[in-house]
Amino acid sequence: MAGQAPAPDSNRVQIFDTTLRDGEQSPGISLNKQEKVEIAHQLARLGVDVIEAGFPITSPGDFEAVEAIAREVEGPVVCGLARTHKADIDSAWNAIRASQRPRIHTFISTSEIHIQHQLQTTHEDVKGQARAAVALAKSLCEDVEFSPMDATRADVDFTAEVCAIAVAEGATVVNIPDTVGYTTPEEYTRYLGRLYELVPGLADVVVSVHCHDDLGLAVANSYAGVLAGARQVECAVNGIGERAGNCSLEEIVMLLRTRTDEHGFDTGVDARELARTSRMVSRLTGYQVQPNKAIVGRNAFAHESGIHQDGVLKERTTYEIMDPTAVGLESNSIVLGKHSGRHALKDALEQLGFKVEGGALNQAFKRFKEVADRKKQVTALDLEAIVSDEMRERTDSYGLGWFEVEAGSRKEPVARVAVRLPSGEESVGESGGDGPVDAIFGAIRAAIETECELRQFTVSAVTEGEDALGEVTVMLRAHGRLASGQGVATDILEASARAYVRALSNALDGAAVREAEGLTEDAARLPATPGP
Ligand code: KIV
Ligand code: ZN
Repeated sequence: MAGQAPAPDSNRVQIFDTTLRDGEQSPGISLNKQEKVEIAHQLARLGVDVIEAGFPITSPGDFEAVEAIAREVEGPVVCGLARTHKADIDSAWNAIRASQRPRIHTFISTSEIHIQHQLQTTHEDVKGQARAAVALAKSLCEDVEFSPMDATRADVDFTAEVCAIAVAEGATVVNIPDTVGYTTPEEYTRYLGRLYELVPGLADVVVSVHCHDDLGLAVANSYAGVLAGARQVECAVNGIGERAGNCSLEEIVMLLRTRTDEHGFDTGVDARELARTSRMVSRLTGYQVQPNKAIVGRNAFAHESGIHQDGVLKERTTYEIMDPTAVGLESNSIVLGKHSGRHALKDALEQLGFKVEGGALNQAFKRFKEVADRKKQVTALDLEAIVSDEMRERTDSYGLGWFEVEAGSRKEPVARVAVRLPSGEESVGESGGDGPVDAIFGAIRAAIETECELRQFTVSAVTEGEDALGEVTVMLRAHGRLASGQGVATDILEASARAYVRALSNALDGAAVREAEGLTEDAARLPATPGP
């Protein structure tokens, strides 16, 4: 069936998750290795087909995280991104080779704008680079994906020539990216249709779509791509990614599942894990989910108007097209209290998918007891929040020791904060401020002896109720680097202090890595040319 999209009975769509690569390129996200591995384990539980674990050439930290994921995470294909340079491909291969199912993903732009202004090269050179890169990748790894970057703004005939080269060199997946979120569903359908005509070999490989959300069309365009023949969708949890982000994983998965009557497609994802995955990614990245976000937003299944409430009470399907339990919402059934022991905690954590043992279990138990002393019931949502909070604690970086603050409406606030330094010593800072939080932040800066600019400060409650745990996200810029940090505690001042120390740590760690490598801010992500 040369020159055609796949037969309609091949209705399984592969989910290629790029949360840890394209998603991690969002400004201010600074996941450490342990956090990336934890997200990758959750993605495996969710049942994605491919995890794009990172872009190994960009930094030693990224390399190590991809390597750890390849070693530890079983099930999905583990993919590493590489430009067409030999060094990138070698680095990607070295990072993923321990995986049972490794894939190298290499890319080069085919649009005139990128070739002229960014690559500053010729069409012939682009073809040569694509050929050499896929051939090299194929000599190392059986599974090779190729992407003509900015394809949707490129001449379709030229993109077709480059894709044909990639297929001839053995690419197993050809991905057609809408890199700047410019295309429309109709245009993308035509573009893919034309590629199928021009490149007969596309019928024998998996065609993939990778759509950005600059015009809010990432999910619609990805869906159009599937209808046009693509059988892999590249997406990210909560839709995070460069600029406006990527196609949202939970939205495309539930679109395919909910309307399978209409199109016949489905994925292998266990949708009951969607809500938890979304919470984990939001918590660890500091990127909050908007309340009205489809599928995983706080209000996605909330009914406010009387008529709707009345309808849902009589029959859920009157105003709900999906069952919230099918996406893992309202699954807050685990309840522990202050008399629950270590064993009950371990069991509950296992049910939630966390394997916590030894010292980590002792620490989690200590935190659990502190929370249980102040909060009547500790639920699954609380446990998730506590464990994620513990996961962020690093002994090799700055940490919160203790704090005290005096404040009131009739006196100037004063805070004293002890910060644990990477050397293990404690440093105490003191400061006034516009309020208790501002004073605490000032005292932390004094203790660390650094300056920074606060960009974002948000407080939310983990669950409902007056005794809910508070969760704080801080985003700040220090030493030229934007970084975020989160903190969870029953007291929002403590959560704020934890979040601020972690954000500063992330910024200072990143700055230190850049300095050691002699890299600038942009170059820290991608040494030779700007990223995708
Ligand atoms: O948006 C893009 O083009 C990319 C490629 C690397 C696939 O992220
Ligand atoms: Zn992208």
